[in-house]
Amino acid sequence: MSDYQDIESALRGQLNTKFVGQRLHYFPSLTSTMEAARELAREGAANGTVVIADKQTAGRGRLSRVWLSPEGNLAISIILKPSLNSLPQLTMIASLAVVRALRKVTGLEAQIKWPNDILIKGKKVCGILIESEVKSDRVNFAIIGIGVNINLNPSAFPEISAIATSLSSELGREISKAELASALLSELEQIYLEAQAEAPIYREWQKHMETLGKWIQVKTGESVEEGKAETVTENGNLILRRTDGSLTEILAGDVTIIKN
Ligand code: BTN
Repeated sequence: MSDYQDIESALRGQLNTKFVGQRLHYFPSLTSTMEAARELAREGAANGTVVIADKQTAGRGRLSRVWLSPEGNLAISIILKPSLNSLPQLTMIASLAVVRALRKVTGLEAQIKWPNDILIKGKKVCGILIESEVKSDRVNFAIIGIGVNINLNPSAFPEISAIATSLSSELGREISKAELASALLSELEQIYLEAQAEAPIYREWQKHMETLGKWIQVKTGESVEEGKAETVTENGNLILRRTDGSLTEILAGDVTIIKN
């Protein structure tokens, strides 16, 4: 595998974005790119600033879970400064960018498990964590954290071996981290700009949503809802039809598929 400095310079050379990744901080190792990005954002980092770590020693997932992040995983955090109204769209922007980048670089068709797990053949290949700092009606900054299993063998990690996959396991060959990171940043910028121009990005997003049409359970904190996942709203919220026929709109949660 290449040295992190080779990956960094390949990425800088390939990047063709206007602002996303133009300020790039590449580290051989970090506890979590989310922490480094937050520090930079609090110090006033520019919109589109990116932090990448070749490996993380304390990678974080949604709902305070641990995210395994050895060198074969791409660990990246992107600082953005959206308006308060467009903040909810970051979930769609990030997951759609991953789907598009995976298709472009590997030819693989990934699915989205609501709200933003990326799956290949039902197994998780990428997780997304979005955090933001909002004061009154202003977004100080938002951080999109993306972890993609690129060149790793899930069976070497018993904690995830049954539920995770990687690009190299799917394709039987290694994939360039620089190429994938560059495609991801460029798709992310493009979709972010499309969303700012009020393009209905939820339409493309829902086409990749494997959750729709399935009977699911959604846990949001202490609350649990069960029903059929009918559709999504323009903001990416999930519309669930309960067994009594009533509809409910869910903003965030953890989905378990009960039946297809
Ligand atoms: C999840 O599926 O639970 C979300 C996983 C998010 C992992 C990424 S890797 C880059 C960034 N740094 C972290 O510590 N977490 C996110």
